[in-house]
Amino acid sequence: MDAVHRLSQELQASDRQLRPSRVPARSLPRSYVDGLRSIDRRGGGRLFVADSSTGPVAYLACALESDPFESNPLAVKITDFVVTGRWRRKGVGSALIDAAENFARERNARSIAITTLAENAQARRAYRALGFRESAMTLARPTGGQKFRRAAKKR
Ligand SMILES: CC(C)(COP(=O)(O)OP(=O)(O)OC[C@H]1O[C@@H](n2cnc3c(N)ncnc32)[C@H](O)[C@@H]1OP(=O)(O)O)[C@@H](O)C(=O)NCCC(=O)NCCS
Repeated sequence: MDAVHRLSQELQASDRQLRPSRVPARSLPRSYVDGLRSIDRRGGGRLFVADSSTGPVAYLACALESDPFESNPLAVKITDFVVTGRWRRKGVGSALIDAAENFARERNARSIAITTLAENAQARRAYRALGFRESAMTLARPTGGQKFRRAAKKR
């Protein structure tokens, strides 16, 4: 779990490069990944770790979610997905997605889904290559009221 913690910090650091408002990687506590393992132990999701001869190189965490508006309410949501830098583009991510897909099938979930920062063009390209397509959109604006609307209109 120490290695998974370091990978979670690597993911946080790459997100922070894209979005500086993210907290620094060193602020991400070890209890975060311990929480992912607890969800796995309770059966509410899975924590998959890809190992190499030198130790873990990637992990994917996912959780089962229920949507009362869907005829099959169960879906698997991927909450964390990272492959360490020098192991990327070698099929590790694809193998982890396959593992999440098998978990979803075992639980009769209708789909697997992942959310990414809009700025993360590389991850979006990878997800498209892995068969994911846009399914819902989150639109956000900073709090602060009408002035943002006026500023956006001028652009
Ligand atoms: C996104 C990520 C997990 C993909 O893992 P990976 O091990 O490199 O992926 P794979 O090697 O299994 O590649 C899977 C597919 O995505 C494509 N792909 C991967 N990275 C890509 C990139 N940067 N640009 C375009 N396509 C890419 C591969 O070509 C492959 O497609 P193919 O099967 O048609 O050849 C990895 O790049 C990563 O950890 N990125 C940094 C952290 C991050 O952004 N995580 C996502 C947060 S939401």
